[in-house]
Amino acid sequence: MKNVVLIGFMGTGKSSCGKAAAQQLGYRFVDLDKEIEDKYGMTIPEMFRKYGEAYFREREKEMVRYWAAQKNTVISTGGGTVKDAENVAMLKANGKIVCLTADVDTLLARTERQGKRPVLDARAAELGGDRRKAIQSLIDERQPMYDQADCTVDTGELSPLQVAVKLAEYIR
Ligand code: S3P
Repeated sequence: MKNVVLIGFMGTGKSSCGKAAAQQLGYRFVDLDKEIEDKYGMTIPEMFRKYGEAYFREREKEMVRYWAAQKNTVISTGGGTVKDAENVAMLKANGKIVCLTADVDTLLARTERQGKRPVLDARAAELGGDRRKAIQSLIDERQPMYDQADCTVDTGELSPLQVAVKLAEYIR
């Protein structure tokens, strides 16, 4: 069976819903960020600090290339994975793309911890520390990429299990 690929902004629940969906479907689960962290022995924020975003994006693309070619896998991407059109093409070629969404208040609460999300932290710093504005401006930029999904699920009011059940219904 084709893969199920979860895309969407930071804090939309790609990892928690992805794990639950993999259980529902009897698929393997993979989180691209975690794969990078395990392979390179450092956290994503550390990688950004030491080598910069471009280096991280190359590592991310390597992971997409490998995992997009697998089968029966729920793939949780990073919030910026879809900025690269080749990543989208690879993931689409062998998977159903599902975009998870939530409103800005929910995303703000879920991404509160600073230092964990370097792209959001950097944008907030550019905007005088306003994390809400930072989230909105990144979403505005990325919306056309997120719109390439085959379907969208709002996770604001749903538990990971409820999202997983929806996804399983859609996939089957
Ligand atoms: C990023 C999102 C992060 C991670 C990296 C960059 C982004 O993943 O890949 O910090 O550009 O939106 P999550 O969406 O899992 O937080």
